[in-house]
Amino acid sequence: MQRMRAVLLTAGGELVDTELPQPQAAGRDLLVRVRAVAVNPVDTKQRATGDGRVLGFDVAGEVVATGPACQWFRPGDAVYYAGDLTRPGGFSEYHLVDERIVGRKPKGLRYVEAAALPLTTLTAWEGLFDRMGIPERGAGPVPLLILGAAGGVGSMAVQLARWAGLTVIGTASRPESTAWVKELGAHAVIDHHQPLRPQLYDLGYKDVPYIFCLNAIDNHWDGLTEVLAPQGTLCSILPPLTAHDWRPLFEKSATWCFELMFTRSRWQTPDMERQHQILERAADLLEAGVLRTTLRETLAPLSAQTLTEAFARLQGGHTIGKIGLTWDA
Ligand SMILES: NC(=O)c1ccc[n+]([C@@H]2O[C@H](COP(=O)([O-])OP(=O)(O)OC[C@H]3O[C@@H](n4cnc5c(N)ncnc54)[C@H](OP(=O)(O)O)[C@@H]3O)[C@@H](O)[C@H]2O)c1
Repeated sequence: MQRMRAVLLTAGGELVDTELPQPQAAGRDLLVRVRAVAVNPVDTKQRATGDGRVLGFDVAGEVVATGPACQWFRPGDAVYYAGDLTRPGGFSEYHLVDERIVGRKPKGLRYVEAAALPLTTLTAWEGLFDRMGIPERGAGPVPLLILGAAGGVGSMAVQLARWAGLTVIGTASRPESTAWVKELGAHAVIDHHQPLRPQLYDLGYKDVPYIFCLNAIDNHWDGLTEVLAPQGTLCSILPPLTAHDWRPLFEKSATWCFELMFTRSRWQTPDMERQHQILERAADLLEAGVLRTTLRETLAPLSAQTLTEAFARLQGGHTIGKIGLTWDA
C-alpha cells in the first residue's frame, strides 16, 4: 500500500509529522491530492480534545480517483471543500471526501486562495439564507448586524449579505480589522467591545431585524437581545454555554436559530448535496468577481511546525480573514 505524508494530532494533543497509508476511494468518495488547506477554530477546538487524528477542514486539490458511485467529478478536476468532522481531515497529501459536499475550485484562484473559502462560505451561506430565511437576491436594504465581521466567517458573511442586498453593519474592535470589514463592503462598522445600542442609534437605527452572531455569544447576549427588533431573527454559530434570560426574545416573538456547518454531513441529511450546490454557486460568484478570497496569509510547507504556528495565531482570537498552508514551499 502506498504511503503519504500527513500531520497527525497525537492523543497527547501534539501535532507531529508522520506517514500514513494512502486511502482508497469507495462509494461516492473522491480521492483528492491535497494542494492547500486552511485552518479554522474547529481545528484548535478538536486539538484540545487530543483524540489522535488528522485535522483540517478546508481543502483545495485535484481529484486523482473516484469511487464507483461518483457522478459529478472525474480524475483531474480541481475541487474545494470543507469536509466532514466525523472523518479524517485534510492535513495530509491525499484525502477522501464525499462528492456531495464538494464544489469545483473557482477558476482564477490559486489553490491556497480557494482553500481559504469553503468552511466559512458554507457557514455564512447556510446561516443567512438557509437558517435565517433571508432571500438570496432582492432582500432589500434591511439592516443586518454581523458580530465578529473581520474573522473567517464574518469576512464571507459581509460579502454574501452585500450580494443579497442587505444593509450590512459589521463589528470589529481594531483599526486594521475595521478597515478590512469596510473593504469587504460593510456599510458601517461598530465596536463589539463597546455597548451596541448607542452605536446603532448613532447610525440611525433603533434596532435591527437580523443579527448574525459569529463570536462570544455569552458575552454579547444582553446587548444582542436588546438591539434585536420585535419579530426579528438572530442566528448564532456558537452554542450559548451559560444560562441566559430568554424572556426578551419571547417578548419580541423573536426567531432564534443555529447554524452548524457540519450538521448536513454528520447526519447525512437527505439534502446533504446542498453543500455541493452552495460551493458551486459561490464558485460562480468568485469567478464573476462578486466575491473575493478572504486569504490574508500563507504558511509553507505544510508541517507540524507551520500548523502549530497557524493554530497559535488563531487562538489569539484576532485573526483577520484566513490563514492558508500549502504542501509546496
Ligand atoms: N457553527 C459553525 O458552523 C461554525 C463555523 C465556523 C466557525 N465557527 C465558530 O465561530 C467562531 C468564529 O469563527 P471564525 O472562523 O470567524 O473565527 P476567527 O477568524 O478566529 O475570528 C476572529 C475575529 O473574531 C473577532 N472577535 C474577537 N473577540 C470577539 C468578541 N468578543 N466579540 C466579537 N468578535 C470578536 C476579532 O475581531 P477584532 O480583532 O476586531 O476584535 C477577529 O477578527 C469560532 O468560535 C468558531 O469555532 C462555527
